[in-house]
Amino acid sequence: MPYLEANESEFHYLETGDGPVALFVHGFPFDATMWSEQLDGLAALRRCLAIDLRDRSGRSLQPVLTMEDHAADLEAFLDKGSVAAAIDVVGLSMGGYVALAFAELYPDRIRSIALIDTKSTADSEEAMAGRDVTAARLVREGRAGFATDLTDLLLAAEASPWIRARVRTMIESTPTETMVAALEGMKQRPDRTTVLAALPVPVTVIVGEEDRLAPLEEAQYMAKSGRGALTVIPGAGHMSPIEQPNAVTAALRTQWLTGSLRA
Ligand code: MLT
Repeated sequence: MPYLEANESEFHYLETGDGPVALFVHGFPFDATMWSEQLDGLAALRRCLAIDLRDRSGRSLQPVLTMEDHAADLEAFLDKGSVAAAIDVVGLSMGGYVALAFAELYPDRIRSIALIDTKSTADSEEAMAGRDVTAARLVREGRAGFATDLTDLLLAAEASPWIRARVRTMIESTPTETMVAALEGMKQRPDRTTVLAALPVPVTVIVGEEDRLAPLEEAQYMAKSGRGALTVIPGAGHMSPIEQPNAVTAALRTQWLTGSLRA
């Protein structure tokens, strides 16, 4: 996997296609390969870049990984890659939190945003407490039990063994310290619904019908707040780009072909 050095870190990435840049941002605790099907399916329309976020594949040095840290990394990565024009940003779950932080910090950098299986709201008190429990469990037990439980929670009942294996591998290959740092960073993220509402670019919201972590109501709320199109994907849970890749690719293609994009 190629990489760029930026912000004193290494960012591994996958790339397909040519033309205007679309940047794909993975969720927690996944990696760039979760976008493989979209990168293949959309290469005729865009230069598609899927990045491994900080400390996913490089050295793990930060005790807290905030959404703002990741957004600053995206900006540095684009600069280093000589991408000067505004881009299409696509984020899944934590990647959606990062996309919204990026939109807030670098508004001129975005020409469209796609928010997949994610939320614009902050963590509730209960969710924050849950993250502390998860971090403590990871430290105590390591990744295996967590990977089993999370894989079950993430996917729709009909997900195949191969899809389950793929998701589990991504979870198990994320460094434990990176997971703990990300849990703390997600806990600290603010509500960015007002950022979404003020975005002057096309918004699309995509959600797996069976998503239990960022459910349909959150997607409806984002679509309403951002005046964006909403696509509900049957037969998918929280990992719709992997569970129903063609449907997610089609929704992104529709956005890029029919949305009126910033030049
Ligand atoms: C993700 O998929 O990125 C996580 O479920 C996000 C979260 O825990 O809030």
